Amino acid sequence: MSQFVVSPNGPLHGSVAISGAKNSVLKIMAAAILAEGTTVLHNVPDIRDVEIMGEMLTALGLSIRRLDGGSLEIVTPPTAQLTPEAPYELVEKMRASIVVLGPLLARCGRAKVSMPGGDDFGSRPIDFHLNALEEMGTSFSIAHGIIDGEVTASRLRGAAMVLPFPSHTTTDNLLMAAVLAEGTTVIDNAAQEPEVVDLAAFLSAMGAKIDGVGTGRITVTGVESLGAVTHEVIPDRVVAATFFVATAIAGGTVDVIGAKAAHMESLVRKLEHMGVGLVATSNGIRVEASGRINGTDLATLPYPGVATDYTPFLVAALATAEGVSFVTENLFSGRFRYVDELLRMGADIRTDGHHLVIRGVEQLSGARVKSHDIRAGAAVMLAGLSADGETTIDDAGHLDRGYENLPLQLNHLGASVVRLS
Ligand code: EPU
Repeated sequence: MSQFVVSPNGPLHGSVAISGAKNSVLKIMAAAILAEGTTVLHNVPDIRDVEIMGEMLTALGLSIRRLDGGSLEIVTPPTAQLTPEAPYELVEKMRASIVVLGPLLARCGRAKVSMPGGDDFGSRPIDFHLNALEEMGTSFSIAHGIIDGEVTASRLRGAAMVLPFPSHTTTDNLLMAAVLAEGTTVIDNAAQEPEVVDLAAFLSAMGAKIDGVGTGRITVTGVESLGAVTHEVIPDRVVAATFFVATAIAGGTVDVIGAKAAHMESLVRKLEHMGVGLVATSNGIRVEASGRINGTDLATLPYPGVATDYTPFLVAALATAEGVSFVTENLFSGRFRYVDELLRMGADIRTDGHHLVIRGVEQLSGARVKSHDIRAGAAVMLAGLSADGETTIDDAGHLDRGYENLPLQLNHLGASVVRLS
């Protein structure tokens, strides 16, 4: 098990380049199932989740090869050579594996995917995915932990549907199912995340007919077949946010290269309100902070609201902000496990259901803490940047699922994070 030790080392200075978006590339890799041929993806992050999705695609019959300079080549065989079965060992490692369901049903008319289990931030059902795919003509049976889906006609058929919540991966799955379906699919209350827009751009380049992406109503007109293409993945806004908040906590001036203000407007406004300076540069965003930041209130919402993935970092920052802050988590009710770790570091945070009341303290004190998931691990690492003494993070391997090498990147900016494996 990896362990990291963080020691306070003053303000951060310098520049950091943001890798491609995890939550975009994983779906785009799955979308490569839809067309025979060679897909090339640029700006692919070197993270564990990409490796896991690569292993998943290999198990399905595709070939994956890393190219120099952060690119990835995926070779998709003819339909008859695909094995539409996603094994438990891989689905269990990464819940995002559920996004192979839509493309497998669209391409093979059949998919057997192991039922994803719980998560470190609570129950994450997949009923929206299954209900919508049923409306498109799939018959599902679930037995012994395996979802077995079969398209009852020769192809999926378009349907008009309203999602109960603008779920990100449900929208991804439905987009990938709809592009090869017969007729028109309308997804109302669709997710609007930049990563959904990126997936749709990839699908459109392959020949899909998609309208309204980036709004709450997406219309897809199914086509007979798609072609493999080359695509550049958008930058990871959650990784960018990590460096914004790291600077807010440690102080300093950091150029976050590749960060796109247009993808993170709510967060930029929130940080400005907290007294953090953010200015657009020719190739990203410069972030500047000094002294204690101001407390603020925030509530997570689907895009364009403040993303749930930012909250662990923001709460780590608010733990030492001036005044009292009130935080509401509206997406994942069980996402507050990192709060117990911040309490171990001396934070004054009261949890009430999906709300937090944070009374900022002058300084946290380094302690031995756990990383419960990718963002929770990053949050305690950031908290350690200005805490008194050493912060030792157990189960830190989670970080490698979503960050190329966060300790090394922070160290380049002047932090002191040591990896003990
Ligand atoms: N939901 C259901 N049923 C479903 C699907 C979702 O009830 O079938 C509920 C969820 O329980 C949750 C809400 O809908 O309360 C929204 O969940 P959503 O489906 O949007 O989340 P997700 O697609 O599973 C993605 C990201 C998460 C990110 C969320 C919210 C990927 C691989 N994951 O999850 O990212 O937190 O959207 O923006 O895209 C991360 O990167 O660390 C991460 C967890």
